Amino acid sequence: MDPSGQLMPASFWTQANALLRKNIIFQKRSRKISIRIVIFPIVLCVLLVVIQNLINTELRKDKYKCGCSCVDKNGDGSCENVCAIQYSTPDQVDSCQIPSPPEWPALLQVPRPEHRAVKTGSDTFVGLPEKSCRDSDSCPVTVLFTGQNESLANKLAANLFTSIATSNLSDYLIALSELIPGTDSVDRETQFIEPAFFYERPLYIIQPQCSPNSSLKIPIEIDTITLQQDVECVQGLPLWRRSSSEVNDELFKGYRKGNAEGMINEVMVAYDFLNSNDGNFHVNVWYNSTYKNASVWDSTPGLTRVPRSINVVSNAYLQFFKGGGVKMLFEFVKEMPKVATQLSFDFSSLLGALFFKWVIELLFPVILTYLVYEKQHKLRIMMKMHGLGDFPYWVISYAYFLVLSTAYVLFLVIFGSLIGLKFFKLNDYSIQFVFYFTYINLQIVLAFLAATFFSDVKTAQAIAYIYIFGTGFMGGYLLQSFIQDTSFPKKWLIVMEILPAFSLYRGLYELSQYSFSGDYMGTHGMRWSDLSDSLNGMKDVLIIIVIEWFVLLPVAYYIDRLASRSSIIRKGPVSILQRFLTEKMQNYHKRSPRRSESGKVFIEMEKPDVVREREVVEHSMLESRTSHAIICDNLKKVYPGKDGNKDKFAVKGISLALQSGECFGLLGPNGAGKTSLINMMIGLIKPTSGNTFVQGLDIQTDKDKVYSSMGVCPQNDMLWEMLTGKEHLLFYGRLKNLNGETLVQAVDESLKNVNLFYGGIADKLVGKYSGGMKRRLSVAISLIGDPKVVYMDEPSTGLDPASRNNLWNVVKQAKQNRAIILTTHSMEEAEFLCDRLGIIVDGSLQCIGNPKELKARFGGYYVLTMTTPANEEQEVETLAHKLSPNAKKIYHVSGTQKFELPKQEVRIADVFLAVNEAKNKFSVQAWALADTTMEDVFIKVAKGAGSMLEFLS
Ligand SMILES: *[C@@H]1O[C@H](CO)[C@@H](O)[C@H](O)[C@H]1NC(C)=O
Ligand SMILES: *[C@@H]1O[C@H](CO)[C@@H](O)[C@H](O)[C@H]1NC(C)=O
Ligand SMILES: *[C@@H]1O[C@H](CO)[C@@H](O)[C@H](O)[C@H]1NC(C)=O
Ligand SMILES: *[C@@H]1O[C@H](CO)[C@@H](O)[C@H](O)[C@H]1NC(C)=O
Repeated sequence: MDPSGQLMPASFWTQANALLRKNIIFQKRSRKISIRIVIFPIVLCVLLVVIQNLINTELRKDKYKCGCSCVDKNGDGSCENVCAIQYSTPDQVDSCQIPSPPEWPALLQVPRPEHRAVKTGSDTFVGLPEKSCRDSDSCPVTVLFTGQNESLANKLAANLFTSIATSNLSDYLIALSELIPGTDSVDRETQFIEPAFFYERPLYIIQPQCSPNSSLKIPIEIDTITLQQDVECVQGLPLWRRSSSEVNDELFKGYRKGNAEGMINEVMVAYDFLNSNDGNFHVNVWYNSTYKNASVWDSTPGLTRVPRSINVVSNAYLQFFKGGGVKMLFEFVKEMPKVATQLSFDFSSLLGALFFKWVIELLFPVILTYLVYEKQHKLRIMMKMHGLGDFPYWVISYAYFLVLSTAYVLFLVIFGSLIGLKFFKLNDYSIQFVFYFTYINLQIVLAFLAATFFSDVKTAQAIAYIYIFGTGFMGGYLLQSFIQDTSFPKKWLIVMEILPAFSLYRGLYELSQYSFSGDYMGTHGMRWSDLSDSLNGMKDVLIIIVIEWFVLLPVAYYIDRLASRSSIIRKGPVSILQRFLTEKMQNYHKRSPRRSESGKVFIEMEKPDVVREREVVEHSMLESRTSHAIICDNLKKVYPGKDGNKDKFAVKGISLALQSGECFGLLGPNGAGKTSLINMMIGLIKPTSGNTFVQGLDIQTDKDKVYSSMGVCPQNDMLWEMLTGKEHLLFYGRLKNLNGETLVQAVDESLKNVNLFYGGIADKLVGKYSGGMKRRLSVAISLIGDPKVVYMDEPSTGLDPASRNNLWNVVKQAKQNRAIILTTHSMEEAEFLCDRLGIIVDGSLQCIGNPKELKARFGGYYVLTMTTPANEEQEVETLAHKLSPNAKKIYHVSGTQKFELPKQEVRIADVFLAVNEAKNKFSVQAWALADTTMEDVFIKVAKGAGSMLEFLS
């Protein structure tokens, strides 16, 4: 068959153009939403900046500035202002410039006198001192030790603390390195300043025995100032324990809560000499890593107190084998030099990960809403049936969302950078770009995927927001603590990051960490070279996102196609599954012998007119060219029975052939199979067997071509509330390959036709239309672009009589060079518009023909109606039977009766005469004689078929 020029589907670019223009208008219209979307990040950014400024003003107070003092540096009598570490309080030290950090003796962590381990009533740990020593602050510090060779361990322990004269302290670093110095003040993260010398706590020298009054003061010189440091002797008490588990047990008793009596019993340090011997030195050291000063809010303990404990035990071993003179001197510890920094705390980086996650994900519900809206209102299918292919729809929607998302994220980054958020400014912009860009791509794919599972905008939105906020909090509390816990297996992190919300969170978290420390150190944030950091999860995240995008894109596309192909009535994932199963079942049915048909003998006799139609179809199927616009060849639809019910035969083999220029009316009671038939004809559902040809093209295989010359006016209006009537027509006109002047003309014309042109109605939003206006617009849409085949499902429901007449004229005009199939419940409409009518009952055609023929065939009688007082009903019946012996009473209600009088038995004149006579005999209140109407035909056919069915079953 010859596809004329009209049958060529619109090219990809034409479709894309139409869709793009529609989307742009849509975007313009939804200004409110757009503004809201843009305002959200602005508000968040501004909020962050405000909080940040508050923190900054706090941090810029003198309390946190490098301490200054007036010092006479060059000895000329007048002092100069010098800002340096030695004039600083510990709070201020962090911001000083320190080109050559001071050297500090390495100290042991000594428990405070009131916490040192003593004997208690309940515990039976051997060797601990009496409790009374706490009163005089003279408790020894306990060192626990164990090992496989007890005699060796004892000898080593005896060497731990040796008494050396502490007379010459003029070079205190050297002197202290020969002794075992300790402190009970807590160490800090950095060693720019050793708190031991600043908190007025004594420096302890640990010795085997202390002589009374052994305390003294030594001068400590730091740059230009000299501190007088108290030095006290404290006794070191090594205690043997049989095994490491005993040590553990004892240490644990002193932990946190204190022992049974509520006393804190702290041990200085504990050693396990393991299998050490002459040639090997193996030792485990227990130290208290939770030791910190609770009153200093940021004092995360450093580990600077550990090295000395190792030095002590190593010296003990050396001295045991090499004699008292052999020693390793541990002279000092010293921090790396540093530049002056402004103490800063980038709040935006800390909160950023969570905040920006929400900001970026905010687009997800927006995209989802858009997609689900078109689905919920069946617009997607509507567009498809008017020639929009799946591929252009995808490409354009995808590109549109991508542009939207990119613009949004760009806006966020630029705005954030402009108002000075470190999160954006410090991290490399190219990393940020790659990360955001890959993520928004993934997000769009996710939205497409999610959209197939929702059929209601509200539900979709609710679930999307729950997802965003839920994963946000889970990221903030759960994921983040897993990331920070370095012992948490990395592979489980990666498993968690498979969830896109978590991978987004992780990426943002890494950016925030880098910008935070970059800001703190006064350097930069994340660079490409940082991706190879073992702790940096960004690389994994990027890989995960890209892989997911690659995998999910085709999956989403495939599921979407599957879903969009299924019938109009569809409700989410379950039905997709059902559809899948249904198709499987159908294939199964196809293969298995048709038990249902072969088992049952065909008693249903087809009516001659239906048989004739079937012959026409069969005949034209054999021809290579046909003049018929639509041919349905023995269409059947079987829905497999559920829950053990019998299969449902919705359509039982219908054949139809429609000429161009013909309007065919499809009538039938509700549930007769009209919708199934129409859906098969427009390719929405697949027939179980049989086929439909439009202009000679198979609807199953040449859908795109067929759709470009097809118009559909669905039963429910499928329109965008945000677009005007005119924009609808422009959009569908473009899909139908119209452009330029022709398009404008066609649109104006069809607006005039359906009476929407004047009074500015065409430029009003469809959301403001009345039901009738929407109906007329739907009809106009189905007719635009000169389609060769038009399906109208109850086009005039809900119209006032004037509009309806108007519409009828439009359809009458329109049918001149096209085939129209129309379903309706209005017999008046069917008679007025249709050249031929077919009545379907229970899935098969009962009759087919033009209205007159049908009336003649099924009518063939007049209907006499007469109303009399109730007591005279009998007289009326006698009258009717006198007129025609075969008169049949069809209706009877309190005095009003209706009779069918076969036409061949009565003449109208006789009836009038008889009634006039009767009026003399009894009181006739009202009477009428009517020819059969289509309505009578319809009722008769519907009833007849019903009774035959009852008889069969
Ligand atoms: C324990 O160590 C001593 C050296 O101090 C050694 O003489 C002795 O053989 C060791 N004992 C065992 C059982 O290895
Ligand atoms: C103390 O030690 C220093 C060097 O460490 C030395 O110069 C000084 O003479 C010593 N003083 C005494 C009293 O031994
Ligand atoms: C803890 O810090 C406060 C000052 O912040 C200080 O007074 C106190 O001595 C410190 N305690 C220890 C054990 O270092
Ligand atoms: C470790 O230090 C903390 C904080 O000072 C203290 O509460 C705890 O008891 C110590 N643990 C042991 C085993 O001494």
